[in-house]
Amino acid sequence: MGCFPFSVSVRVLLLFGLVCAVSGLGANWGTQSSHPLPPETVVRLLRENGFQKVKLFDADYGTLRALGKSQIEVMVGIPNDMLSTLASSVKAAEKWVSKNVSQHITSSNVNIRYVAVGNEPFLETYNGSFLKTTFPALQNVQSALIKAGLSNQVKVTVPLNADVYASSSGLPSGGDFRTDIHDLMLAIVKFLSDNGAPFTVNIYPFISLYIDANFPVEYAFFDGNSSPINDGGTSYFNMFDANHDTLVHALQKNGYGNMPIIIGEIGWPTDGDRNANLEYARRFNQGFVSHISGGKGTPMRPAPIDAYLFSLIDEDAKSIDPGNFERHWGIFTFDGLAKYSLNLGTTNSGALVPAKNVKYLEKKWCVVKPSAKLDDPQVAASVSYACGLADCTCLGYGTSCGNLDAWGNISYAFNSYYQKNNQLDVACKFSSLSVITKNDPSVGNCRFEVMVQPYYAGAKRSGNPQKLLGMIMVLISFLLTLM
Ligand SMILES: *[C@@H]1O[C@H](CO)[C@@H](O)[C@H](O)[C@H]1NC(C)=O
Ligand SMILES: *[C@@H]1O[C@H](CO)[C@@H](O)[C@H](O)[C@H]1NC(C)=O
Ligand SMILES: *[C@@H]1O[C@H](CO)[C@@H](O)[C@H](O)[C@H]1NC(C)=O
Repeated sequence: MGCFPFSVSVRVLLLFGLVCAVSGLGANWGTQSSHPLPPETVVRLLRENGFQKVKLFDADYGTLRALGKSQIEVMVGIPNDMLSTLASSVKAAEKWVSKNVSQHITSSNVNIRYVAVGNEPFLETYNGSFLKTTFPALQNVQSALIKAGLSNQVKVTVPLNADVYASSSGLPSGGDFRTDIHDLMLAIVKFLSDNGAPFTVNIYPFISLYIDANFPVEYAFFDGNSSPINDGGTSYFNMFDANHDTLVHALQKNGYGNMPIIIGEIGWPTDGDRNANLEYARRFNQGFVSHISGGKGTPMRPAPIDAYLFSLIDEDAKSIDPGNFERHWGIFTFDGLAKYSLNLGTTNSGALVPAKNVKYLEKKWCVVKPSAKLDDPQVAASVSYACGLADCTCLGYGTSCGNLDAWGNISYAFNSYYQKNNQLDVACKFSSLSVITKNDPSVGNCRFEVMVQPYYAGAKRSGNPQKLLGMIMVLISFLLTLM
């Protein structure tokens, strides 16, 4: 049954809202894409799939404006590279809150509920770069929210990676904060608690499997096929519960056993690694949604879980330093197509609803000429050039395009570059090896993408002829109404 039908009376809506708010599922909406969908399209996608909450990684103006009046609860983000500025100046924090929170609440009715200060700032790969700035930035943003009169309605938090805590015994009950940041974590937790703010953590069984070949695969999922871990009489059948409760124990041990917890990110990628595929992603996400939908929580916290799926849509411009899977976390493709069946319990059909009115570039692709010699020394150079600037993360062992032959491999790389450059003719000129075709080279699960039309925020860039034409039409019809 649908949780959030649109054309029902307000009273019914409120009733359903109350019922569903208990386990209202959120989604992360990241925008590191070469060809992002227009924000209005994404907001409609969120609504039609019954997401009641969204988490953003920055405070993009167009994104927030599109969320106005949608009623969707918003967590706006402050990127790590802004932390030092906000840490050193209360004024800067006040400006940030004024521009990126107050204004959107007042002028476009955006339902902002949280400010995420930084994103996993204590990841070990950052070498401690944000250890000194995160807490002062958090304090300054909180002061700014108080000054703006918003501190009851908007709470601060810091989305943290799950390795800020660990267990000395390997069991949840051994949980405590990492020794090198123990005092800092306690200061932050106390501050959050004093201000009625939640602890936000990102939990990734996929990463555990990715970095440890011996990780018991079934333990990552929710089917109960893994032999349970016994923690003083409590059985843990999946990694999520165990990891979550390691945090609960860490909080409890330090006097904050009742602190609310938000799962800031949880999900499974579909490509770029042998464990990143449609079947595993579907199993994990469906398992998680079903696991939390009854509201029974975890052994240490038998209460509804507040979580944001990672992620709504694929982002082809994300750094692949962590791995090729980084660009494939979406439950939807970059253009808003459902990747696999997933019942969120929020749509009438029980299926994901794809994005509407997506505008694509022409149906054409750049491939290797039939006459080209594949051992031409230009080939390797062209492929690595194309892959360096476009996206070849679907090539390689165990990926969606991992079974292509040499022709397919090279064509995939050429096409990716060509699409990323908006099908410019010059972007399909790989030293006379390539040709443009209207026959879709996709095979099976391996999709040769056609990009969506570039999106221009507002009408700032008049370089978009369609937008310009649209504006002229509006102007003409306006003039007609005056006659
Ligand atoms: C508001 O947020 C945007 C996007 O994160 C950022 O670029 C901008 O500097 C912020 N504005 C202020 C006044 O801090
Ligand atoms: C962290 O330190 C290592 C080793 O010193 C270095 O290779 C790496 O580039 C550093 N990373 C960052 C984000 O500063
Ligand atoms: C295709 O590319 C992948 C990844 O670059 C490589 O492992 C594979 O051997 C290539 N296949 C052929 C037939 O060239």
